[in-house]
Amino acid sequence: MALINLKDLLKHARENKYAVGAFNVTNLGFIDTLIAAAEEQRSPIILQIAEVHLRYVDLEEIAPIIISAAKKVDIPVCFHLDHGQTLQTLMRSIRAGFTSVMFDGSHMPLEENIAATKEVVKIAGAVNVSVEAELGNVGGEVIGEVAPTAHAASKELFTNVSEAKRFVKETGIDALAVSIGNVHGFYKGDPNLDYERLSAINSAINIPLVLHGGSGISDDDFKKAISLGICKINFYTEMSAAAVARVKNYLINEKPDVTSIPDVIGRAFEEVKNVVKKRLEVFGSKDMCAPEKTLCFSCSDSVCGFTDPKFRPGAQTVLYEDIVNQITNEVISSIKNKNK
Ligand code: 13P
Repeated sequence: MALINLKDLLKHARENKYAVGAFNVTNLGFIDTLIAAAEEQRSPIILQIAEVHLRYVDLEEIAPIIISAAKKVDIPVCFHLDHGQTLQTLMRSIRAGFTSVMFDGSHMPLEENIAATKEVVKIAGAVNVSVEAELGNVGGEVIGEVAPTAHAASKELFTNVSEAKRFVKETGIDALAVSIGNVHGFYKGDPNLDYERLSAINSAINIPLVLHGGSGISDDDFKKAISLGICKINFYTEMSAAAVARVKNYLINEKPDVTSIPDVIGRAFEEVKNVVKKRLEVFGSKDMCAPEKTLCFSCSDSVCGFTDPKFRPGAQTVLYEDIVNQITNEVISSIKNKNK
């Protein structure tokens, strides 16, 4: 059983100074591709579905497929809702078995963001589902637009250090997404990450930090950001663009007379796998599931030789059926007590 929540996963990443890659799933083909890439690298991985991408995949239909694929492998897989916008979608995700959710109230005034995020933490925490939230605002393209344009980050939307401290303390979130010059989609010019701010945020709060908009950031920048507290990196546009480029090349130069659709789609996911494997290496998570490392906790059969109980995950995520049973039992016992 390799399904794990974000809190348990990032605890190990933070203590061992690496980041876990979080890759967006917009099609069934990503599931096996991403998990295979992580397996080959002996790395943990996060498969995430963004609320804006629910126009591509059906949440209730794809969730059991991801959960079943994750349970088959001996690497830790976190199943995460990316940029959850409404309580309805968050509840649907928790009910479908996501082990982690992001509530994105970054467009709200601070007080409203705190109040709404706090509510989400209360609900998700009751069933051991982790919560990521965002403060400041990571701008850019709605992830994976059909006709993308490049964006530059705007400084007014950067995360404020003292607000971050207050936000984390009052909401009780498990991970904080920061805005430090990162944007979603393609960057206009080179990304210019504000490391001073990142370092100050990292010193002010003691939970893992998340970097959205990973596409276009250089290997050196990733490494520096990880050294300053980034433990989760969101990545989508670059792998999508690389897959499209690979298909174009295949159709135009390699096999113009191809008629097999699985053959063409296979080229796309071959490229996704290449890109993801390289990122996992840069993020420092490669070989974290090797026998001499401590992350083997996710394998119930301990095939990787996990020894350190410090990183053992907490209680399992509770699925919807369990909650219904729990509530039913409580109602029955309360009726019984009343009738005594
Ligand atoms: P990119 O598409 O820019 O890599 O960003 C992905 C992301 O941050 C998803 O939340």
